[in-house]
Amino acid sequence: MITFYSQDDTRVKKANKRQANAKRGPKSTKIPPMNSAQNVDLSPFNTLALPGRAAAYQKITTPEQLATAELAGQPRFILGGGSNLVLTGDFDGLVLHMAIPGKRLLKEDSEAFYIEAGAGENWHDFVQWTLQLGWPGLENLSLIPGTVGAAPIQNIGAYGLEVGECFHSLTAWDFEKHAFLTVDRSTCEFGYRDSVFKQQGWHLSGRMAITSVVFRLPKAWTPNMRYADVTQELATRQIASPTPQDIANAIVAVRQRKLPDPAQIPNAGSFFHNPVVEAALADSLAADYPTLPRYPQPDGRVKLAAGWLIEQAGWKGKNLGPVGMYERQALVLVNRGGATGDDVRRTMAAVQADVKAKFAVDLTPEPIFL
Ligand code: FAD
Ligand code: EPU
Repeated sequence: MITFYSQDDTRVKKANKRQANAKRGPKSTKIPPMNSAQNVDLSPFNTLALPGRAAAYQKITTPEQLATAELAGQPRFILGGGSNLVLTGDFDGLVLHMAIPGKRLLKEDSEAFYIEAGAGENWHDFVQWTLQLGWPGLENLSLIPGTVGAAPIQNIGAYGLEVGECFHSLTAWDFEKHAFLTVDRSTCEFGYRDSVFKQQGWHLSGRMAITSVVFRLPKAWTPNMRYADVTQELATRQIASPTPQDIANAIVAVRQRKLPDPAQIPNAGSFFHNPVVEAALADSLAADYPTLPRYPQPDGRVKLAAGWLIEQAGWKGKNLGPVGMYERQALVLVNRGGATGDDVRRTMAAVQADVKAKFAVDLTPEPIFL
């Protein structure tokens, strides 16, 4: 459990008690009961269900275990729920599987609640728990797979919200400094699907293992209906003044309609970033393709919809071997069964080549390749 902060505040004590008593208490991310092992099959630990083995594996359930992990100079990889991961084969190193549990109200002031969660908590369950306990703010990020600890890595975002907007700080074990660090929001340098962890390459080198995250959820709540899909879903449900839970339910419904459940059809969510291009290119494409979705950015550039580009390039529902692009959302690459990392690379390259040939736009993959 999380142990770094004082539990003395009576409101914190009360909230922690409420948490313990909450009837529908969320579960932690499900990880098979195995703490430390050699030559471990990683296919159950990635949502694309790709094959690969780790030379060594350790499940991390307390922050202190990181300080004593047997590293012996070998490469390491920090694994959460494996939902943003392309396993390209065997990993000749140590996989540290983050399963640190715990969530609580850390403190509150006149403006906000500060909620802390262990890195191994399941993201969606954590969001639903905050809503149950009356701390809204994260509802637009409902049903994103993975763990709390991975959320800051790519600054997860959906339906008009990025996690960086609700982020306060995190605690991480720094393997180089051999110490726990607290990292605040400005240090994280959050951007679209980006953070200092990615900019510095720590998401691959395993330099830091995030052990817990603190979220700041303002008490003055207003519904975030920036995304048209959310407004439409609420209108269909005839909800004019939505509660935070109404918004969460609407987003869960939209996501379940559009996105494949990894348990049924293995995938890693959006496979490419939405490309941000110069305005001149967006304008010339729009002249040729009037239905091109365009999202102007503050810096004058324009974000395009990768899913639209991929669909127009003929890839929606199309397969190359066992890997294809999903029939209801062309941005989602799916494993139709028995695919390897090489199969994923082949389809990825074919999609990129066709989009480039048709639109002169480069697509960058979103998941991490290990
Ligand atoms: P992993 O895939 O295990 O790891 C991802 C990266 O984070 C790796 O580099 C890993 O080393 C690092 N990492 C993980 N945990 C830690 C830690 N504790 N400390 C340090 N580094 C760590 N993403 C969105 O942003 N928006 C969406 O709407 C969205 N929808 C999705 C829908 C589906 C169906 C799927 C399968 C994925 C979706 N994703 C989405 C992508 C994915 O859910 C997120 O990127 C998520 O945060 C990954 O969490 P994870 O625990 O599975 O991380
Ligand atoms: N579109 C198509 N064809 C498709 C898919 C999309 O034409 O097959 C068009 C849609 O009609 C719409 C536009 O593309 O005009 C955008 O589509 P959508 O609203 O479905 O969102 P997205 O841009 O494809 C992004 C995120 C998702 C996030 C949703 C909702 C990225 C890379 N992806 O998808 O994040 O859930 O918005 O906010 O930014 C993820 O990162 O894994 C992920 C799922």
